[in-house]
Amino acid sequence: MQHVLYALVTLACAAASASTPTPEAACEYRHLTQRTDHFGKHNGSFQQRFSIIDDYFKPGGPILLFQGEETDLLDCANDTILYEWAQELGGLAVSLEHRYFGPSKPFGNASTTNANFKFLTLDNVMADAVEFIAQLRANMSDAKDSKVVVASGSYGGFLTGAFRLNHPDTFDVAVASAGPAMGFGDASDPESYNWYNWLNRLYLDHSLEASLKIKDAFSVLLERLVTNDTSTLQQELDLCTPVAPGNMTQAALLEVLLGQVFSMAPEFNYPYANPGRTPIATPFFKILDIALNQSDPMKLLLEANRMWYTPAGATCLDFEHPTEFVRTFGVPLINYEVWGYITCTYVPITTTGFTANGTIFPTRTLDMALQAAACEAQYGALMLSKAEMETRYHFSPEEIQKSTHIIWSKGEYDPTSGVEPLALPLVADRHASRTLYAMDVAHREDLFRSHENDRESTKRLRKQELEIIKSWLSDDI
Ligand SMILES: *[C@@H]1O[C@H](CO)[C@@H](O)[C@H](O)[C@H]1NC(C)=O
Ligand SMILES: *[C@@H]1O[C@H](CO)[C@@H](O)[C@H](O)[C@H]1NC(C)=O
Ligand SMILES: *[C@@H]1O[C@H](CO)[C@@H](O)[C@H](O)[C@H]1NC(C)=O
Ligand SMILES: *[C@@H]1O[C@H](CO)[C@@H](O)[C@H](O)[C@H]1NC(C)=O
Ligand SMILES: *[C@@H]1O[C@H](CO)[C@@H](O)[C@H](O)[C@H]1NC(C)=O
Ligand SMILES: *[C@@H]1O[C@H](CO)[C@@H](O)[C@H](O)[C@H]1NC(C)=O
Ligand SMILES: *[C@@H]1O[C@H](CO)[C@@H](O)[C@H](O)[C@H]1NC(C)=O
Ligand SMILES: *[C@@H]1O[C@H](CO)[C@@H](O)[C@H](O)[C@H]1NC(C)=O
Repeated sequence: MQHVLYALVTLACAAASASTPTPEAACEYRHLTQRTDHFGKHNGSFQQRFSIIDDYFKPGGPILLFQGEETDLLDCANDTILYEWAQELGGLAVSLEHRYFGPSKPFGNASTTNANFKFLTLDNVMADAVEFIAQLRANMSDAKDSKVVVASGSYGGFLTGAFRLNHPDTFDVAVASAGPAMGFGDASDPESYNWYNWLNRLYLDHSLEASLKIKDAFSVLLERLVTNDTSTLQQELDLCTPVAPGNMTQAALLEVLLGQVFSMAPEFNYPYANPGRTPIATPFFKILDIALNQSDPMKLLLEANRMWYTPAGATCLDFEHPTEFVRTFGVPLINYEVWGYITCTYVPITTTGFTANGTIFPTRTLDMALQAAACEAQYGALMLSKAEMETRYHFSPEEIQKSTHIIWSKGEYDPTSGVEPLALPLVADRHASRTLYAMDVAHREDLFRSHENDRESTKRLRKQELEIIKSWLSDDI
């Protein structure tokens, strides 16, 4: 149960749509015909949704593709930073929905049966985008020789990295914002950094005092649970149901749910509320404030959770059903049904990221083999191993290091950064891929359209990315 929760909750990070999502009706979507399987295992086809805006396109200018994420709401081509970059570059702004999301379902409402899920593969997702670009070129003579810049965030950042590493002939430049491309495999691997290590350092860097109080709050909670001192916990923590003394399953579920907000708050620490991602502005700064102000450990946990879930619409914490609870009130933008399949098959990232040993957060033990077995039992599909990700899809550290034209961007507040390439060696080739580490930036914040509340740091990051892209596309130097 915990395994499933981590899979679904902690990576509740990607998903599209900007700060104030464009009502879908406002966007003029189009559709292209895609093969259900690009490799001959099915003869059917389906309609895949996309949008295209040529307001600034000049013949031969770049195609700026926003790859859709794990959500049913596809960003309109004018609803991401690519639209603003199109203005600068004379580019064509397009966005493509990810297969199995929104109306782009190969088998309509029956798409999520195990038999029909099997065409949801990384190879097919990549081939969809390659086919889309081929059709655009065929249909628009002015774009016949256009270079292609693809951008997306979180899981989408993993995808854009994969596009460039596996289809460099189609994708000239990839912006992989918060792309978790180094988080596969086994948590016991001493080489792996992780989600909670990043969070731990972040909290300590911002306030030792707040960090110690959070650590103490979880210690007090654990003490209450192991000594069976649970009779008043329901009332103290706004729980929907009481905690049974001595039930260690419940104890673990409670720790997991109470801890979740300490991860979401920094991840989505945007300067404005961002519906579907965070119900309030600057949740990380608010949680630090709560920790500093509150001297009662149980009240600290209560207030931190209320801070998020009350404005999100929850009336109590349903700790016995944390997966459902977080899907509904945590990060509801994600389509968890499809995303669950993806993290069980070709994004095997669910374990490495999430041990919290040695941090201020509750320790947890997660087992990759157990996780893989649970996935196989649910879907009858095999989870790819770290070795397969590295060899079949070119995600080895060596190949990432020697790649060109990928920007891996990461924000200070974003724990996803703990499972993406941390730093690439400096090499003389100006075309070499880069990691950009930006202070005072949250999860894939660089990809949103500009907002009046944007911090200087985010504006600076976007400007740097644009200049790097210009230089990579330029023949002048
Ligand atoms: C995006 O373009 C659509 C037309 O396709 C328009 O209705 C909508 O208002 C635009 N959105 C923004 C944020 O400019
Ligand atoms: C290209 O044109 C064909 C024929 O009109 C159309 O069916 C297809 O959807 C178009 N594809 C794109 C990506 O514009
Ligand atoms: C696809 O159609 C071809 C030609 O009719 C047929 O030979 C083949 O078996 C079909 N493939 C599948 C997977 O159904
Ligand atoms: C698919 O499901 C949606 C949502 O439940 C429903 O509105 C729609 O009518 C269904 N479509 C078909 C073809 O059954
Ligand atoms: C984390 O700690 C638990 C219990 O203390 C231990 O069983 C587990 O092996 C540790 N995990 C890692 C990755 O060190
Ligand atoms: C807690 O309660 C359970 C179930 O009643 C019991 O088995 C266990 O020994 C108790 N633990 C303590 C520390 O009292
Ligand atoms: C412990 O709690 C879990 C989760 O609420 C519940 O399913 C299980 O029946 C409980 N076990 C006992 C022995 O009460
Ligand atoms: C914490 O205390 C500061 C200073 O007294 C106050 O400005 C702030 O509003 C308080 N924050 C919370 C969340 O109570």
